[in-house]
Amino acid sequence: MAIKNYLLIFICVIVGTNFIVDGNAELQRFEHPAKADGSLSILVVGDWGRKGNYNQSQVAFQMGIIGEKMDLDFIISTGDNFYPKGLTDEHDTAFEESFTKIYTAPSLQKQWYSVLGNHDYRGDALAQSSPLLKQRDSKWFCLKSYILSTDIAEFFFIDTTPFQDKYFTDPEDEVYDWRGILPRQNYLTTLLKDLESALRESHAKWKIVVGHHTIRSAGIHGDTKELVKRLLPILQANNVDMYINGHDHCLEHVSSGDSPLQFLTSGGGSKAWRGNYSWSSDENDQTKFYYDGQGFMTLQITQNEVEINFYDIVGNILHKWGTSKSLFSAI
Ligand SMILES: *[C@@H]1O[C@H](CO)[C@@H](O)[C@H](O)[C@H]1NC(C)=O
Ligand SMILES: *[C@@H]1O[C@H](CO)[C@@H](O)[C@H](O)[C@H]1NC(C)=O
Repeated sequence: MAIKNYLLIFICVIVGTNFIVDGNAELQRFEHPAKADGSLSILVVGDWGRKGNYNQSQVAFQMGIIGEKMDLDFIISTGDNFYPKGLTDEHDTAFEESFTKIYTAPSLQKQWYSVLGNHDYRGDALAQSSPLLKQRDSKWFCLKSYILSTDIAEFFFIDTTPFQDKYFTDPEDEVYDWRGILPRQNYLTTLLKDLESALRESHAKWKIVVGHHTIRSAGIHGDTKELVKRLLPILQANNVDMYINGHDHCLEHVSSGDSPLQFLTSGGGSKAWRGNYSWSSDENDQTKFYYDGQGFMTLQITQNEVEINFYDIVGNILHKWGTSKSLFSAI
């Protein structure tokens, strides 16, 4: 008994020490249970907050209809939640005008798991994580980076804006809210290290990483070279199934040639039709689908299968893709 207690204290000391050293750095983890049958139905939208303009309301309306049919578990926002410059502070009424009063369908009153985009950083970037927003609309959830565990899949939400050099070296007339980010290289290194260890330790059947910026894209922004260099190798080395992003205002699916990783862009939440300019530079990667207009993506996940669908604003399925994993693999 005494030895047992001694051991317990010893373990606590070790764990406690680790906690003090790494505690702030580790990604926060949240849980969202899957349906009783173990499946998940998710809707993904990005680049949306324009007070209903540029077809935002039409996208929202169609999301409501499809969401109802799917019996959604939650919604993912890939960032650029509020245009043009995020929220001014936690009291900004753009929150209601671009979110609460737009996504009114009963099927969309589920938890929204969000990341920040570059436009969100042009306002008060911390405001979007304020507890006050959750009081104003309980479906809102946004942090810079975090992990969402469900029974069958794990989602790793990553803050991608600080990776892009040009916001620091050539911000033009924009002012970015870098509170909590500087010194930048420490922030990026810690984030990548935490992501890498969380991915390595994950036992989830499906590993899905969500960020605002593209890795591979044929859209106007093209590939984000900083993410290709620093994030992509970590995703490939840890058998990530999907990378989901916004930033390019389109719907898009790029398949990688040398791993199972799929690049999925859902950035059609409002303003779109910007043209496609830069097909992926890597010949291994195949652009399977590109749509320049508004819409959203859905994701249905079971133990063995994933299916994605891209919808336009009138509810047409523009592109469908699926894959399966055997019951016993990847555990
Ligand atoms: C709204 O959507 C319709 C149908 O896709 C499209 O024809 C129209 O140009 C869109 N409007 C804007 C402002 O993007
Ligand atoms: C845009 O996409 C179409 C296919 O949808 C392609 O034929 C065209 O070459 C692309 N334009 C540019 C500039 O890459």
